[in-house]
Amino acid sequence: MRVVHVASEVFPFSRSGGLGDVLGILPEVLAGQGAQTTVVSPWYGSLAGQPTEIWRGTSPELTVGSSPIHELRVGEIVQNGVQYLFIGLPEFDRPGLYFDDDVYRFCLFGRAVLTALQHVGVTPDVVHGHDWQSGLVLAYAHLAGLRTVFTIHNLQYQGRWNIEEAARWTALPEWTLGPDALEYHGDLNLMKAGLVFADAVTTVSPNYAQEITTPEYGEGLQGLLIRLTIEGRLTGIINGLDQERWDPRTDPDAPQFADPAGKAAATAVLREEFAMDDAPILGVVSRLADQKGIDLLIEALPEVTPHWNVVVLGGGDPLLTAALSGWAQHPRVAFVGGLNEPLAHRIYAGADAFAMPSRFEPCGLSQMISMRYGTLPVVRLTGGLVDTVPADIGFRFAEASPAALSAACAEARAEYDRPEAWQARMERAMALDFSWQGPAAQYLALYGRLGR
Ligand code: GLC
Repeated sequence: MRVVHVASEVFPFSRSGGLGDVLGILPEVLAGQGAQTTVVSPWYGSLAGQPTEIWRGTSPELTVGSSPIHELRVGEIVQNGVQYLFIGLPEFDRPGLYFDDDVYRFCLFGRAVLTALQHVGVTPDVVHGHDWQSGLVLAYAHLAGLRTVFTIHNLQYQGRWNIEEAARWTALPEWTLGPDALEYHGDLNLMKAGLVFADAVTTVSPNYAQEITTPEYGEGLQGLLIRLTIEGRLTGIINGLDQERWDPRTDPDAPQFADPAGKAAATAVLREEFAMDDAPILGVVSRLADQKGIDLLIEALPEVTPHWNVVVLGGGDPLLTAALSGWAQHPRVAFVGGLNEPLAHRIYAGADAFAMPSRFEPCGLSQMISMRYGTLPVVRLTGGLVDTVPADIGFRFAEASPAALSAACAEARAEYDRPEAWQARMERAMALDFSWQGPAAQYLALYGRLGR
């Protein structure tokens, strides 16, 4: 079976968050379980990798209005049993992943993918798209009679644009533009394209699969999602973790762990790096976005800093960045902006606890990574955090408020002061298994059921 994944990010070549992480490992595991696996993604100007160009041409079917025929390139990297194909279009030749004209750019990408696959001789049995950037590819794949799966990693970003203008970018038949398909409140909605044209829709945890059928989490698409659930077309498959990339015993960025006393040594390294005092360390590694509840954390800092040192790594929202930079003057608060993989490892390894006050969290990977390193998660009970953080390991709270977060941090601090109880939680955390083998087998079974 030839499975073709389509996504806007794939680690280690391009990544802004968990989507890239998942695409960086799931295809490898699927290949290990016997599926021929291809991943298709844009050839960004900032791509971390050197694909070999295997096809170049002009593609008349990509022409938009009177604009020139698009130059299309296809690059390839084959590694760990997976074929990665990078679609080169002039619109993606910029430093960075996402921009204001993304709906336009991913319409061009969407139109280019099947054409590119044809040129390089890849014939998919299943096209598996991820998030809105792949929505148009699923529409074309469906119209071409291919079997399709769509996975929701983040329902908040839907890829919407005024439909009159955007319809010219898609070159889809008129009937697909109505409210039963791509139209949503006067806009073209590419997330909806994925949902409507997929034979099966999944999201990245069973709990989130239920949550998104409610107005609180459905982002306006709950009606459609309820229908998909009733038809048996929407299910949750939990993400795993790349347990080699996040292995405390072999992590070159946290070498202290190779020793039995590793955790304490890793904590000492982090404490020294940020000149922190003896209070325990609460870590955060996150996109700085509304979703992640970083504003709740900032508001809770006056209540949290009496008990904890706090170290935050992440980039995104300029307002949150500014607020955190201000807080970094505080002796118990450290903030580093942007993405920094080695520092992320040092935080996961060295922090005592790890905060995720998410407003919504389709799965969440950071809580799993932290637990691997004996770093106990303080999480809001939402989405995949419910499915992955056991009550006898983490500190869980229900309400999305600074007060609820600081109460959970106080509870964690009280437990930290009972070393035996803390140690027992750490041991339970480090014994958990987040292998991708089970989830990958679930995807393969799903592919096998399609079209019967
Ligand atoms: C998105 C979600 C996150 C999930 C990740 C990978 O980043 O916000 O919860 O873990 O995708 O599926």
